[in-house]
Amino acid sequence: MKEHPRVAELRSALSSSPGPVALVPTMGYLHEGHLSLIRRARGENRTVVVSIFVNPSQFGPNEDFTRYPRDMDRDRRLCDEAGVDHIFAPEVSEMYPPGDRTIVEVTELQDRWEGASRPGHFRGVATVVAKLFRIVRPDRAYFGEKDYQQLQIVTRMATDLFLDLEVVGCPTVREPDGLALSSRNVYLDPAGRQAALGLSRALQAAQADFGAGERRRTALERRMERVAHDYSGFELDYAVVVDPHTLEQLQEVNAESRALIAGWVSGVKLIDNAAIAPV
Ligand code: PAF
Repeated sequence: MKEHPRVAELRSALSSSPGPVALVPTMGYLHEGHLSLIRRARGENRTVVVSIFVNPSQFGPNEDFTRYPRDMDRDRRLCDEAGVDHIFAPEVSEMYPPGDRTIVEVTELQDRWEGASRPGHFRGVATVVAKLFRIVRPDRAYFGEKDYQQLQIVTRMATDLFLDLEVVGCPTVREPDGLALSSRNVYLDPAGRQAALGLSRALQAAQADFGAGERRRTALERRMERVAHDYSGFELDYAVVVDPHTLEQLQEVNAESRALIAGWVSGVKLIDNAAIAPV
């Protein structure tokens, strides 16, 4: 495994690497969710690149950019054990050199849900992912469904900009009690950890109601709100049932619909989502 802090170095290494080439973009502090993406990438491609970059442009001024968890030694070891070929770990100045002026916006999709409560977040995500796609030029790029809106935005961007790669969405990895894995879970104390279960429990309740025949969107959304409300310490941001691609609220829910939920526990923003009709 080789580690590259510079774009030119990585590109030169990739020029002699066998294809197909996979990219797994991350902000580091790897957990089982990231490792599931890396394993899938390893199984489907001949060269695997993992990028580790805490991207400042996707954090708002009052968000956790400086305290976002980092552990490069551990990440390096986990990547090595998982059979990664190249780590790309640039400095901020490598990704955003002086004079950098270009941003990528995926209109409408970027403004809904997480975009409404974190203005500018998805512009930062789309911009850095577009840069990573151009730097690595992967055949496939792997993203977790846990960040469902991000996955839809990146997929849309790759299509709209003819980026010629496959965006592969991979299932959310959960703790045995249902909590979706997230690097931000480290911020939770035991009480917060309990409150965070409101997310997955609300999604499960909506799935159960859909399974029992409920098709009214507002009824399913109210049900999620009620369940989330029962978890003291969980402050709901939104609980919605949407079209899986446009992320618009639907008139009538169908088996393709996606339930999205988000909220705060002790000031930590947590998100989760699920297919309304689990396969
Ligand atoms: O999901 C993440 O970790 C980040 O948003 C990503 C895709 C690596 C872009 O910084």
